[in-house]
Order: sequence, then C-alpha cells, then structure tokens
Amino acid sequence: MEVYSEKQQITLALDAVKAKNQSVGLVPTMGALHDGHLELVKKALLDNDSVVVSIFVNPTQFNNKEDLEKYPRTLETDVALLEEVDANRIMVYAPSVEDVYEGNLVSQEFDFDGLEFEMEGKFRAGHFDGVGTIVKRLFEIIKPNNAYFGEKDFQQLAIIKKMVEKHDMPVHIVPCAIYREMNGLAMSSRNVRLKPEFKEAAPFIYKTLTAAKAKFGIESAVEVMEWVDKQFSMHKLLDLEYFVIADEDTLKTVSKKIKFKKYRAFIAVYADDIRLIDNIALN
Ligand code: PAJ
Repeated sequence: MEVYSEKQQITLALDAVKAKNQSVGLVPTMGALHDGHLELVKKALLDNDSVVVSIFVNPTQFNNKEDLEKYPRTLETDVALLEEVDANRIMVYAPSVEDVYEGNLVSQEFDFDGLEFEMEGKFRAGHFDGVGTIVKRLFEIIKPNNAYFGEKDFQQLAIIKKMVEKHDMPVHIVPCAIYREMNGLAMSSRNVRLKPEFKEAAPFIYKTLTAAKAKFGIESAVEVMEWVDKQFSMHKLLDLEYFVIADEDTLKTVSKKIKFKKYRAFIAVYADDIRLIDNIALN
C-alpha cells in the first residue's frame, strides 16, 4: 500500500487511475483510526475502484491549542490497519501542514447558511471554517467521485453537504451511520485518552440519548431537554456542555414538534478534559 506525503505524487498516481476511467472514493480522517473509520473505508471500497484515506490533523479546525497538541498521531498503526482491510486498492495521503497549506495556514471564511452557528459552532469558534477549508482543499487535490463522512459528526456532514451544493463541487457526499462500542459509546479517536473511570462512565451519554428518544414520543422537546440537563447535573464525572433537539435539516433547536419533520438529539459532554459528542435520530 502506498503512503504519499506529497500532493504531486498522489496526484500522479491518481491520474493513472482516472485514465482507466476508474472511480475514486475519499475518506478524510485525522488518523488514530478505529473501527468507525474503517467502516467508512469499507463502504468506500464497495462503491469505488480505488480509495484514498487522508490522514491529517488539521490545525485550522482546532480552537484549543492543547487539544491540537494532544491529538493522537499514530500513522504507523493506521497504515497497518488499512493494509489489513485492503492493501491493493487503498492509498494513503498523509501530508505535512506545508504540503496542504503552502505557507498560508489560515481558514477560508464560509457561509453555510446558518448551519455553522448552531451547536458545535457556538462552542468551537472558527471550527467549521477550518473543516471547510481542509475538505475543500482535499477535494481539489484528490478530485474524488465520492467522499465519505460519518453521522457521528452530523453537523460537519451537513456543512460539507452545504458547501458542495453551494459551490457546485463535482463530488457525491455519502453519509455513514455511527459506529459504536458494544456498550453504546460512539467510537472516537479521543476515547483512547479517557482514563479508566471516565471510560466506564462515558456510555451514560448514549444511554441518555436513547432514553431521550423514548421520551420524545411522549413529552415535549423542552421537557426532554430539561430532563437530560437534570440527569447530567446529578452525574459525578460527566459535565454536559449542551443537549439540544434540533431539526435535522436546519439544525435549529425546536421547541414545538411539527408533523413530518425529522428531528435529532445532539449532545456534547466533557469527560475530564476530553470532549465527546454524539447524536441520535428521534423519528
Ligand atoms: P475524524 O474525527 O478523524 O473523523 C473522520 C471521519 O470519520 C468523519 O467523517 C467522522 O464523522 C467519521 N467517524 C468518526 N468516528 C465515527 C464513528 N464512531 N462512526 C461513524 N463515523 C465516524 O472528522 C474529522 O476527522 C475531520 O474533521 C475531517 C473531516 C477529516 C477534516 O479534518
């Protein structure tokens, strides 16, 4: 399996693939790969002739310097995991900051029609401009036919879809379901940093989401949101940052249910100094 660190080289390799009229799928990641990432890769392999997995911890999307510094970097293990999945049809693009940003380490400013001001946008200033900047750059370099994003980061997925639609980008965005541990905890590269007691406590997040889903059929959105706040205020280890029930399309918080609209519950929780997010479809 080839691992490219320079865009010129991977572009050459991809030219050969495209010359044969073969399709290319892209799975953008920040590495520290887990089974959730590998599910995206497997889906991409089903749909495409070749799959590029990008591994790049993107500085412009981190609003917290310490989070960026502490983000796990495990390229060798990542490559070994991908080789087990399919050594022949996967290429890795693991560039340096310089290769991607060419000395201009700043975010482009995007207008995502307001999606960027909800939830994560309220707590992570500039985050989605950073995500938009890197994903647009990756699309320009790789020129994939299809690109794969997890519903784990549902707001990110919505923002990428919006960017592609608004800028008429020639790529098809494929959403992938959330992959969880047996205990319900959504897989995340940050989970490896959880100390044992917090790792044990963290499944409470998904447990609360499923309970909120059951309540949503009976109680109002406001009542469910209050109930969740209360559950976390009683929890000794987990700190709730936000829980909202939002319209799946606009991501705006709802107070009143409207028939035929799709709703989703979103949550962000601190376990010690580690920030975990999750979400669940409600109807
Ligand atoms: P990262 O957190 O590494 O995630 C890469 C992709 O894997 C994202 O699309 C994410 O939603 C998906 N993913 C992560 N955990 C998942 C899980 N448990 N189930 C399903 N999908 C999961 O998201 C990023 O990186 C970055 O913001 C990136 C898009 C690469 C831009 O830098």
